[in-house]
Amino acid sequence: MSKLLRIKPMSMLSMEAGEQGEHTLKRSLGALNLITLGIGAVIGAGIFVLTGQAAALHAGPSVALSFVLAGFTCAFAGLCYAEFASIIPIAGSAYTYGYATLGELVAWIIGWDLCLEYAFGAATVASGWAGYFNSLLQQLHIYIPPQLTATTGTTLVFYQQQWLPLMSLPPGVSGVGLPHATGSFNLIAVLIVMVITTILVIGIKESANFNSAIVIVKLGIVGVFLVVGGYFLLRHPAVAQTNWHPFIPPSDGHGNFGWGGIPTAAASIFFAYIGFDAVSTAAQEAKNPQRDMPIGIMGSLVVCTVLYILVSLVLTGLVSYKTLNVAAPVALAIDATGVSWGSMLVKIGAVFGLATVMLVMLLGQSRVFYSMSRDGLLPKWASAIHPRFRTPWITTIVFGAFAAIMPAFLPIDNLSQLVNIGTLLAFTIVCAGVWVLRVRHPDMARPFKTPLVPLVPILGMVTALYLMTRLAMITWAVMIGWLLIGLVIYFTYSIKHSKVQALPVAGEAD
Ligand code: ALA
Repeated sequence: MSKLLRIKPMSMLSMEAGEQGEHTLKRSLGALNLITLGIGAVIGAGIFVLTGQAAALHAGPSVALSFVLAGFTCAFAGLCYAEFASIIPIAGSAYTYGYATLGELVAWIIGWDLCLEYAFGAATVASGWAGYFNSLLQQLHIYIPPQLTATTGTTLVFYQQQWLPLMSLPPGVSGVGLPHATGSFNLIAVLIVMVITTILVIGIKESANFNSAIVIVKLGIVGVFLVVGGYFLLRHPAVAQTNWHPFIPPSDGHGNFGWGGIPTAAASIFFAYIGFDAVSTAAQEAKNPQRDMPIGIMGSLVVCTVLYILVSLVLTGLVSYKTLNVAAPVALAIDATGVSWGSMLVKIGAVFGLATVMLVMLLGQSRVFYSMSRDGLLPKWASAIHPRFRTPWITTIVFGAFAAIMPAFLPIDNLSQLVNIGTLLAFTIVCAGVWVLRVRHPDMARPFKTPLVPLVPILGMVTALYLMTRLAMITWAVMIGWLLIGLVIYFTYSIKHSKVQALPVAGEAD
């Protein structure tokens, strides 16, 4: 039992953080790079798609309050991530924090769990990206053979000059009599993941620059939506008054609408916030992690929270929330202002937005596996660093292949709930870890201190666990199944190869 609880000594972590040379990650990111990495990972499918669905199905205009609630959950966890990232500035994020505080088994569970967030997150977003991109191409009258635009077996129909999945036809349109095709392979998803994987292999600075350029574009497009929509609402206050009234629609008695609808919608739009924590996986590539990690994590979270609340208010002000359960709700809303180029612009924003989400998710995944492999819990190839590019290239390519193959062949559009639960579990463990480390090592130097410990970590744990309870049983079952697979690997491979297990027991004392 004590083997499972062995913690990684802080002295070992500090030594790893200070390593230099061609076989180590390159420290080249500043505070602004880290904030843009966070924004790159955060603004994506959540705001461009899920906000509309959450308003239509669960909360109405009060989805803005759901964003406040989910934002608080993330802020509590973000403050805990920030403390850890400033003390332990190495690549593994929550996995490493768990190893330093709660022991090897918990660390393994959290590292394995992070695949749900990063690898499955990237695969889910690749599938969404392919859909948006293909829709944009078709709007420009560029047609790729439909068989190469969808997952194996998906039925597509030609409706209003576009090939669409049969499932996404508007209510009342059956598809009978329309031209049909069957998807054989989602080539678009594969190509975008290949491009992103190549950038990630070539270098961290190159990846960060690519990300920053795209983040500027997507922030610009969100800004245009807010200005165009906000100006329209100022000139037509009666429209907003009608659509925002009642701000909290009456409850349907099944957890939707009313006050109870606000947390239900929060559990769903939580996906929109996922990614700010990925900033912490780049800790070993930051120039001044003690100072810049907290800025990167909290800075990106604050920017995104403010934007999300504003976007959800403008969205539900422009059109009735009842009409928002569509694939591109933000495009639908901007159409209502009469601006003819609005919908195209929003689609471009989504295409850009989702590309950087994939980039940062795959970056995070490779850094977590890199750390687990360095600790001996995974085979050595997972921490091999390219001598010229200084990136964990093999693990980057392996997960790139995973994120490409999943959407190419499997119907994974609905994996976002699994990504949510995996992330919420990681948040819970990180919050617990900060509290444990404060008790075990009260005098340790902490460049950034989470305020009001243990209140903030407790609130972080309670809110994350509460949102987990709002997710479906099937999501819980898949997560538990995934963790059980991880435990089999741990007990058959990792525990036997762990470097920490090979240390003298006294090593734990420091
Ligand atoms: N937060 C990311 C998105 O909304 C995962 O796409």
